[in-house]
Amino acid sequence: MSKVTVVGAGNVGATVANVLAHKDVVNEVVLLDIKGDFARGKALDSWQQAPIDYYSTKLKGTEDYKDTAGSDIVVITAGIPRKPGMSRDDLIATNAKIVNIVTKSIMEHSENPIIIVVSNPLDVMTYAAFKAAGLPASRVFGMAGILDTARYRAFLATALNVSPKDIQAVLMGGHGDTMVPLPRYTTVSGIPVTEMIGDDELNAIVERTKKGGGELVGLMGTSAWYAPGAAAAQMVETIVRDENRIFPCCAYLNGEYGINEMFLGVPVKLGKNGIEQILELQLNDDEKELLNTSAQHVRAVMDVFEGMDI
Ligand code: LAC
Repeated sequence: MSKVTVVGAGNVGATVANVLAHKDVVNEVVLLDIKGDFARGKALDSWQQAPIDYYSTKLKGTEDYKDTAGSDIVVITAGIPRKPGMSRDDLIATNAKIVNIVTKSIMEHSENPIIIVVSNPLDVMTYAAFKAAGLPASRVFGMAGILDTARYRAFLATALNVSPKDIQAVLMGGHGDTMVPLPRYTTVSGIPVTEMIGDDELNAIVERTKKGGGELVGLMGTSAWYAPGAAAAQMVETIVRDENRIFPCCAYLNGEYGINEMFLGVPVKLGKNGIEQILELQLNDDEKELLNTSAQHVRAVMDVFEGMDI
């Protein structure tokens, strides 16, 4: 009997609501957007899909935060997406204000929700939501790693001509071009990926993964939504079902990996309380250096955010 609110009825938010409805794991999904009729339309369209695809999840579109009252989980997708030529970091001026207002409005109507941030620049917007919410760090985190890992796994599936189902991988760091896919922690049904693919091809896939979001912006003129939406919905499902699944998520680090007081992608265990545990892998020196470089990049964007004095 869970209630989930998705803020932002754009491509990503509407996809989160729709994919979540299909999973039939929560009682109600509220889709909120400042464009209330648009959210109502998306929710109604998804509800009219229910008799065809057989789900019972109720859907409600609204612009009124009162309708979000008592939410167990809130997914924040609000904000502007990238246009070609922009980096995720270019969005900060607009999206930091939006995420701040959205989070405060949510907290006025729900006491102790779990908040999943999807808005970009992801790592810093998750920090913005954490600051605005006043919730424990285990209850505020971001969706990036599942998406970035999915891109990596999809590229590998194509290269190896195997099912994407059989590729497991870990990816760490910020949600940007400095992200750190980890070939040493990548397997194909338990077989180390390095036994199935040459170094050059693997490196090319790692590089393509890092720019995976940008590739789609280039193709479509705006950022992606199917995989991002499905990734956020998967996080909600894992929490609602208290599955304790292990996913890379954007989590608050307080000493883990030698990194302090910032949000960054790391493997975590997700369950009914949100982040149940942060897993600390035994990274080698090269991997540590890549992670630290990524952390420095995110820290620079955080400094811009702190300078905004929101
Ligand atoms: C992407 C956006 C959602 O990576 O950040 O496609």
